[in-house]
Amino acid sequence: MTGTINLKLDINGRSRELAVEPRVTLLDALREHLDLTGTKKGCDQGQCGACTVHVDGKRVLACLTLAAQVEGRAITTIEGLADGDGGLHPVQSAFLEHDAFQCGYCTPGQIMSAVACIREGHTKSDNEIREYMSGNLCRCGAYSHIVAAVREAAEAAS
Ligand code: FES
Ligand code: FES
Repeated sequence: MTGTINLKLDINGRSRELAVEPRVTLLDALREHLDLTGTKKGCDQGQCGACTVHVDGKRVLACLTLAAQVEGRAITTIEGLADGDGGLHPVQSAFLEHDAFQCGYCTPGQIMSAVACIREGHTKSDNEIREYMSGNLCRCGAYSHIVAAVREAAEAAS
């Protein structure tokens, strides 16, 4: 039986303490230990993007990241994206307006990726958006709507 380690994680601007086994991923820490289930588990192998979160503003696959690796760094999940006053983040609004989801399972990861993609400036064309969003799979095939939503949110942010 492996021992546990105590971690203090900075998640959505709040300090959260947890005791986990050293090999626990950030994804399992969020979902199973901190009740932050907005971040989805798809493949659990780094191939679908459903678990995308931000660490220090950059996108990271939470299923490939150990919780212990991100201690002391600023983690943002889909729950922390909006402003806290109940309003949606502009990218969330754009996804709603453009029907950029069907089952919605991939959507939190898509939105976290889209926010980073816009921040990185990789939205100059639909092809560029597709390329920089290519790590986020959508089994429902909502890609054209997702690209439209990202394009509009990027235009609004510029
Ligand atoms: S669950 Fe992490 S990439 Fe699929
Ligand atoms: S909306 Fe269903 S997987 Fe993307």
